[in-house]
Amino acid sequence: MTAPEPRASAPESTDPVWSEEPTPVSPEDLSEGTWELLRAEATRAMTKAYVPYSNYPVGAAGLVDDGRIVGGCNIENASFGVTLCAECSLVSELFMTGGGRLVAFDCVDGEGNTLVPCGRCRQLLFEHGGNELVINMPSGRAPMSVVLPEAFGPDHLAGAHDGHEAKH
Ligand code: THU
Repeated sequence: MTAPEPRASAPESTDPVWSEEPTPVSPEDLSEGTWELLRAEATRAMTKAYVPYSNYPVGAAGLVDDGRIVGGCNIENASFGVTLCAECSLVSELFMTGGGRLVAFDCVDGEGNTLVPCGRCRQLLFEHGGNELVINMPSGRAPMSVVLPEAFGPDHLAGAHDGHEAKH
């Protein structure tokens, strides 16, 4: 099967409903060209980072299951713990441009090195890509099931509100 090429960016439109038909993408469809597009978007996003405290810009890019590519950069805060990782702004863009599932992810630092997502961000990405999401790690590409084994996720909460009395 020929891998569908992802779109470099979302179509220009203020209409919340895409006028183009989405092109479904699955992890098996990932081509080297797709990874190159992800790296280009992660690098572009990295240049937007707000990092006055660490001086450590990060850019992230994700391929969505309809072919979109979404990006994000880190946005720091004088109250350091409030800093948004690049993955946080990527997830915001994912939702602001129509939602969907992430199928591939790449992340770069200011020198163009592949960056591992931090532990919190692995959890963040797992929510929106699950075990099949392919992460570009410095050691090679790996599914989220390897990057975050036995993850806690939405399935654990399924049915949590059925038949449980409030304990207070
Ligand atoms: N950072 C990210 O944006 N993503 C990660 O997965 C690792 C760390 C950012 C947060 C902070 O602005 C800077 O890198 C240094 O920790």
